[in-house]
Amino acid sequence: MSNASGSSAGTGTGPSPAAGSAARPALRAARTDAEPPARGARFAAVGAGRMGRGIAIAFAYAGHRIALVDLLPRSAEVLAKLRAEVNGEVRASLQGLVALGALRADQVEVVAARIGFVAAEHAPVALAAAELLFEGVPETLDAKRSAFAAMNAHGRADAIFTSTTSSILVTQLAALVQRPERFLNMHWLNPAYLMPVVELSTHPGTSAEVLARTKALMEGIGKLPVVCGPTPGYIVPRLQALVMNEAARMVQEGAATAEEIDKATRYGMGLRFAALGVVEFIDFGGIDILHHASREMSESVDAARYAAPAIVGRMIDQGHLGLKTASGFHDYAGRDIAAYRRGVLQRVLGQLQHAGLWRAAAEQTLD
Ligand SMILES: NC(=O)c1ccc[n+]([C@@H]2O[C@H](COP(=O)([O-])OP(=O)(O)OC[C@H]3O[C@@H](n4cnc5c(N)ncnc54)[C@H](O)[C@@H]3O)[C@@H](O)[C@H]2O)c1
Repeated sequence: MSNASGSSAGTGTGPSPAAGSAARPALRAARTDAEPPARGARFAAVGAGRMGRGIAIAFAYAGHRIALVDLLPRSAEVLAKLRAEVNGEVRASLQGLVALGALRADQVEVVAARIGFVAAEHAPVALAAAELLFEGVPETLDAKRSAFAAMNAHGRADAIFTSTTSSILVTQLAALVQRPERFLNMHWLNPAYLMPVVELSTHPGTSAEVLARTKALMEGIGKLPVVCGPTPGYIVPRLQALVMNEAARMVQEGAATAEEIDKATRYGMGLRFAALGVVEFIDFGGIDILHHASREMSESVDAARYAAPAIVGRMIDQGHLGLKTASGFHDYAGRDIAAYRRGVLQRVLGQLQHAGLWRAAAEQTLD
């Protein structure tokens, strides 16, 4: 399926310090004659803006060549400026990783050279070569329509098209794509080359094979794909928006200062949710506990914001209270719950130790 000829092998590693150790075959075999379209990179980021550049770095870091495709006709002068800006930003991002000890200095050029900036004039060749394409043009239907028109016209029949849109539903964009069964939204978290989660949002016509292939390709560059339906805000932005608005409201009300809220979220909520998923946390604490807390808060703060959804009441009625009944949003039947709890504690402890916040028990009894 792929035409990876000449591409350096993918390493399957994500951006981690460990990935940057000793010279690996992918680096030794790397090509340094970047730019140019016609070589047929397997991956193409369409739109050379913020998202496109981040996506290009993510693939290049993992060893893949990727075409960063501009679709707009530009004067030679503007094009040269854009090219220089892209080159500069890619290197600056990689240098940032070097400064943090996550990449060796000699890897910067090797990784950057895997990104081929492609001007509109050569876009058809690059679009025709890629098996996975990421549309990353501005958030307007007009821009999306014209980008997909170019991708439809030149893309391979077996290529997978994705959109990085933040807010346009996959069902809406599917209408712009010639082969909707090969289309899904892919929401990256910024910076794209750093954050492991990518949210794949499918529509009813997305083929199972396409979803499986997309997941495999993303896992191949060290990403952790999660899947959701055609829902506004995907998973992360939808949850985040609620929390961020409530934090802003607390500042507005004078309930707490921004500094105190930030400390509470970094070292309270943050540690907790890095060790347990949000839904898993409901089970951990107990669905009845969420129900009680929601009732209290909806009476004392705001019913519209805090009332628990119907599913919570239904689960309580059915006796699914979470860990304590071995069934909740997840099923714990047959699992060693003590070991599971130990694992959670271990993850929290690991983070506390990493953050330098874990203190050994006091040897002496104090007043
Ligand atoms: N996942 C995220 O966290 C995240 C963050 C920001 C943006 N986004 C989404 O990613 C997409 C791109 O956002 P961005 O911030 O990279 O935008 P950007 O403005 O930085 O880049 C867009 C690129 O597309 C080019 N362009 C402009 N009009 C075009 C057109 N009509 N046809 C083709 N190309 C055109 C621009 O010149 C630019 O190079 C948007 O849909 C945005 O909502 C996602």
